[in-house]
Amino acid sequence: MSKPDSRPPICDYEGSNYRTEFWEGKGRDYEDRVERIALRRLLPPRGRRLLELGAGFGRLSEEYHGYDQVILLDYSLSQMRYAQEHLGANGRYTFVAADAYHLPFRPGSFDAVAIIRVIHHMSDVPTVLNQVRQVMVNGGTLLLEYANKRHLKSMLRYARGQQTWNPYDLKPVEFVELNFDFHPDYMAQQLKTAGFLLKRSMPVSFFRIPLLKERVPTGLLASADGLLQLTGLHYTPSVFTRSLAVGETTNNLYNRSLFVCPNDGGELAQDGDVLICQSCAHRWAIRDGIYDFKAPLDE
Ligand SMILES: C[S@@+](CC[C@H](N)C(=O)[O-])C[C@H]1O[C@@H](n2cnc3c(N)ncnc32)[C@H](O)[C@@H]1O
Repeated sequence: MSKPDSRPPICDYEGSNYRTEFWEGKGRDYEDRVERIALRRLLPPRGRRLLELGAGFGRLSEEYHGYDQVILLDYSLSQMRYAQEHLGANGRYTFVAADAYHLPFRPGSFDAVAIIRVIHHMSDVPTVLNQVRQVMVNGGTLLLEYANKRHLKSMLRYARGQQTWNPYDLKPVEFVELNFDFHPDYMAQQLKTAGFLLKRSMPVSFFRIPLLKERVPTGLLASADGLLQLTGLHYTPSVFTRSLAVGETTNNLYNRSLFVCPNDGGELAQDGDVLICQSCAHRWAIRDGIYDFKAPLDE
């Protein structure tokens, strides 16, 4: 498997209280509900092996109940610990701390990949999408959510001269360090270049307005959003897409040995709680059931 040379910067959530500081009791039930509506519409309900990239604390993991095996991956070991505590020692889940730019999987290991609220932290979208494509089988489904730069609020702000960056320009905008908004046409192009066929694109989160969320019952807002998602009006802050992986790939969907060395793609041999690369000799720890590919033990 080809490996990227560079090490793009990472938006590190290690030790952050993302669950309690962003989601629970923080007035985002509406966002959570509409994202689940979109996810259920776009992701095939059943499959063999699903990877959620940047899974955080596992907020959406119960949505994957139709898959035989679910791999939750996040750069943050502490987010993976939350996920593990939340989901318990259920054999269907595998927890992996790793970098999306250096995936530790055999080519053709997944028939589904979900990436939600993650790619907006990526400064190098082509590398991530190439990595994802390589670990998928031909015909597999990629569900990708991205932050949209051409949303109604940014268009209005730009028209009034309150915002310098142009929402119609294809280039990603980094509005805060390692937080990017993308133009829908840019993302469509990146998907195509990486070997994906974009099948469907859905605008999500029409009502992400604090006053509205306070005044209108969440269920009503979420139902209205669910209907509007079908309109194709891509002027929302969030867009969900479904793409098919196209082109040649080996099929390792039923190979029980999932991992390879993220450094050089070498075979790994297990010795207790350590995985040792048979070509570069890097050693990777398994910490209380979490595969830790963030940094080798010898570094
Ligand atoms: C905003 S959270 C989203 C979590 C989850 N997808 C959700 O929607 O609840 C972004 C997650 O992406 C992870 N992340 C950022 N850069 C990453 C990288 N290079 N590799 C793997 N995970 C990364 C962060 O650690 C964080 O948990």
